Amino acid sequence: MRQDLEINFKASPHQKEFFLLKTRYRAFIGGIRSGKSYAGAIQCLKLALQKPGCTGMVGGVTYPMINDVIIPIFEEITPRCLIKKFNQNDKVMELINGSKILFRPLENTRQIDRIRGITINWAWIDEGAYLPEYAWKVVQGRLSEGEDQVCLLTTTPKGFTWIHDYFIQKEHGDNYSAVTGVSSDSNPFIGQEFIDDLLQGYTGEYLKQEFYGQFIKFEGLVYLEFEPKKHLIPSHKIKDMDFRDWIYGYDAGYRNPRVFLKIGITHDDKYVITDVFYRKEALLSDSIGEFMEIMGEDNGTVYADPSARGEIEEMNNRGMDVDGADNDVGAGIQCIKDFLDKGNLMISNHCQAVINEFNSYRWHDEKDQPIKEDDHSMDALRYAIYTHEGGSIALGTLDNR
Ligand SMILES: Nc1ncnc2c1ncn2[C@@H]1O[C@H](COP(=O)(O)OP(=O)(O)OP(=O)(O)O)[C@@H](O)[C@H]1O
Ligand SMILES: [Mg+2]
Repeated sequence: MRQDLEINFKASPHQKEFFLLKTRYRAFIGGIRSGKSYAGAIQCLKLALQKPGCTGMVGGVTYPMINDVIIPIFEEITPRCLIKKFNQNDKVMELINGSKILFRPLENTRQIDRIRGITINWAWIDEGAYLPEYAWKVVQGRLSEGEDQVCLLTTTPKGFTWIHDYFIQKEHGDNYSAVTGVSSDSNPFIGQEFIDDLLQGYTGEYLKQEFYGQFIKFEGLVYLEFEPKKHLIPSHKIKDMDFRDWIYGYDAGYRNPRVFLKIGITHDDKYVITDVFYRKEALLSDSIGEFMEIMGEDNGTVYADPSARGEIEEMNNRGMDVDGADNDVGAGIQCIKDFLDKGNLMISNHCQAVINEFNSYRWHDEKDQPIKEDDHSMDALRYAIYTHEGGSIALGTLDNR
């Protein structure tokens, strides 16, 4: 039975602009609270209603984001009478016109690869800047044949990553279009108080990125040595590499991301970041299982933020081998710089959250230390490699390596 349904949504001027885009690949790129997720969800619902019986996929970065942010938006904007059923376990919403919406996390390669079996008519990825290009390619590959398939992406930009290449540079053709630079205060649905808070909380380039939704190349980067072409390694190549040892870096966080980095050491003493757990508002007790999944059979020491004593104990009690790291910031940074410079530190191109931090971790204007923003995987990295290299004991030998 065909049922063509239509509903009218309220929308901001930028959201309306987004709904009018006609290319196969469309993005809404804006600041925090600028209306990105609503733009994506409303467009998905429009697509689901326009094509009875179609299947679409909504990709979120993590399960908590899907459960706590994305699904509630769908529940808010979809009139109850249009929902046939919603299977919370399988995360599938079925509409009365036969269309299905699948909600899937794309946080790591395992989850991204899990969607390889499905065929979809449309897709939306929220907060795409945290996902690797690989996720986008896999999602694109799941679109069925035909002209009218659509793939949407919404995000706050995180520097000049693949999203800029695709949607602004149009390196992959004219099938791409975007509404960009949507500022937080252009969203008529949020209050002035919230805008004032944001304006107080951010300054300089960070304000341009997080509030004005602009692509920024940050000044005063700590790791000027980092060059994607030199240091990124395709994940499929890592599968064929042989590592003599594994180490891990851990940075505690709750309101800020909690980070667990997996680092392989090759027989010629190169460090390779192969996997990352990077998640806000996740309790340690809920995360340890995933740390262990990331570790697999690759046992090794975890070098953790030494101030997180209780957490170190909790992980040790769960059978992990966790040590407090040497937290000498200056010497640790010098050590990482040295490894980058010599090409002895590589990063899997799937570890987008780490890549984003390399592109934004920067020095304080006045103090001789980095700004405490976007430093979470940078700290975990320093803890692991600098401490494993012998910490302060090894300092004098750095240049002779
Ligand atoms: N079309 C809309 N109709 C009604 N309310 C809306 C609409 N668009 C946005 N809003 C309101 O604005 C708020 C922010 O929108 P949304 O969550 O889409 O922004 P965002 O850019 O995804 O935010 P974040 O940066 O937190 O992910 C929502 O919580 C909602 O209250
Ligand atoms: Mg959002």
